[in-house]
Amino acid sequence: MSNYHIKHLEEYWQVYRKSVSHPEHFWEEVAEEHFLWRKRWDKVLEWDFNTPIVKWFQGAQLNITENCLDRHLTTRGDKTALLFEPNDPKEAAQHITYKELHKRVCQFANLLKSQGIRKGDRVCIYLPMIPELPIAMLACARIGAVHSMVFAGFSATALATRINDCDCKMVICSDGSYRGAKTLDLKSIVDEALEECEIASVLVVKRTGNDVQMKSGRDHWIAPLLENISGECPVEIMEAEDPLFILYTSGSTGKPKGMLHTTAGYMVYTAYTFKNVFQYRENDIYWCTADIGWITGHSYIVYGPLCNGATSVMFEGVPSYPNFGRFWDIVDKHKVNQFYTAPTVIRALAKENVSHVTSHDLSSLKVLGTVGEPINEEAWHWYNENVGKKKSPIADTWFQTETGGIMISPIPYSTPTIPTFATLPLPGVQLALMDDNGKEIQGNQVEGKLCIKFPWPSMARTIYGDHNRYRETYFSAYDNMYFTGDGALRDAVGYYRITGRVDDVIIVSGHNLGTAPIEDAINEHPAVAESAIVGYPHDIKGNALYGYVTLKETGADRNQDNLRKEINDLITSRIGPIAKLEVIQFTDGLPKTRSGKIMRRILRKIAHKESDQLGDISTLLNPEVVESVIKGSLA
Ligand code: WTA
Repeated sequence: MSNYHIKHLEEYWQVYRKSVSHPEHFWEEVAEEHFLWRKRWDKVLEWDFNTPIVKWFQGAQLNITENCLDRHLTTRGDKTALLFEPNDPKEAAQHITYKELHKRVCQFANLLKSQGIRKGDRVCIYLPMIPELPIAMLACARIGAVHSMVFAGFSATALATRINDCDCKMVICSDGSYRGAKTLDLKSIVDEALEECEIASVLVVKRTGNDVQMKSGRDHWIAPLLENISGECPVEIMEAEDPLFILYTSGSTGKPKGMLHTTAGYMVYTAYTFKNVFQYRENDIYWCTADIGWITGHSYIVYGPLCNGATSVMFEGVPSYPNFGRFWDIVDKHKVNQFYTAPTVIRALAKENVSHVTSHDLSSLKVLGTVGEPINEEAWHWYNENVGKKKSPIADTWFQTETGGIMISPIPYSTPTIPTFATLPLPGVQLALMDDNGKEIQGNQVEGKLCIKFPWPSMARTIYGDHNRYRETYFSAYDNMYFTGDGALRDAVGYYRITGRVDDVIIVSGHNLGTAPIEDAINEHPAVAESAIVGYPHDIKGNALYGYVTLKETGADRNQDNLRKEINDLITSRIGPIAKLEVIQFTDGLPKTRSGKIMRRILRKIAHKESDQLGDISTLLNPEVVESVIKGSLA
């Protein structure tokens, strides 16, 4: 039996049981079966969740790009590694073979070196979905630099915060990006961000050809620098626990958390889960529609697929351009076999005429996937019936930026699926549901806070520059457990269903948004005294943001529609358009506890139109405010 590829349910159980009873032995076998190591590990695992420290495959030496590229050159050199589908359907798709990708990564790596980038340096990547994005990431990994990608929809302020937090030496960006019919001017966002950062060198990819300012001495076009540069670049030999990348995610407090991922464990886990969750076979065409700027794209467009020698599609555009059939057009055109997307996209497409789907031949599809938020039953059925024609199993995959790779998911064609259930933990994943007294809840048909009891190879090792916050956020809520921040239930047969966040993070259209940074942005407005954000159910976005805003005396007479616009503009400039509020209600005050804490629970009920279920509010500091908030509700 091969551990590396699970093919039926009994095998899943066998592998799972082994992975739990002898985790170190199990991961050692997986690591031996598939990868290229420059030196073997001395010790599989060292861990302590109190400190917390987690180290996998200590003593091993490797370079992840050798596993993603060099290893395939003899057997798959002419196979397409990246299949780039441009925004404009009239622009030709690019089939970038393993040979070509290897060469372009080496050239880019040599360019980074010539610009003074060395092992351990942080490099910020702020690029749209164009081939230079994965090339830049892999080039960093090849020379041991740590990439920190910032999704190219974040604002200048958000970008500057992330560049400064991990002290990046360089920024890689493009002149602009295409999003459907729109062109965005990315370089000017970078210019604005860099007014607050000390960056010696900015490398710019030309994509849209819009006018940009190039600061002499600092900014360089990439194409001329790549001419005559060698296509060979020896790898930097990395230790197993050397950092691979930093990726920011929102937290309950204002500052984003730079999750730090390391090399060997991340590689082993993402490669292993890619193979099994998507049941990838040698000549399949695999497509994940996420942006590479999120963890899903890091792990399941770039590293996981390339470590398996797969063909990974990357799409520059949006599902609605030039019409709502674009995704299905791409599936048909490239005969995609595995298709992985987000529930919010499914809901948006399900609203359109179904002929957008039925007019395309989707018979190549074998496996469907979703990720990022709970999928509602209606969307699940629409996806299953119209896209999968009830023949392609849906892998509802649960994971987090922090977990690096998929943790809970059916194994397609093995695990029977049920709508809205992510089903069973993958091998090596030991889940626990906890009650409010900090005890693990045993048995089935129970609900609690979702925790993980034992380390897995791709878990983030720390928050960059703030190990204390890492411990506090993830390891202090429960003894000896990693706390996910999600709630979950376990049904009668032991399947898991994620019920949503139990902290101050709200998932809007699959994007994690912390309430604190949005409130901070709103409170910057001179007319605002204070504010509180809650999520409420939304047809397409899953959740949308409802803001309660109390104005200062000076703002009380102002035109409320203008104020709403100004507040949303402020949020767009501080964070990005993804964090805009759907509803803004101006309030006389916010309900507070006697210690002065805003009672979001009450505000949430009001936004959910459940103001008849507030319970006892008499212990509040200002119970009279609640009545006026209910009266003014826009829910
Ligand atoms: C949520 C995205 C339900 C969850 C990969 C998690 C999900 C957060 C699912 C992490 C799913 C992700 N079902 N909820 N299949 N997948 N989530 O860091 O709340 O952007 O904690 O990683 O998304 O979001 P992140």
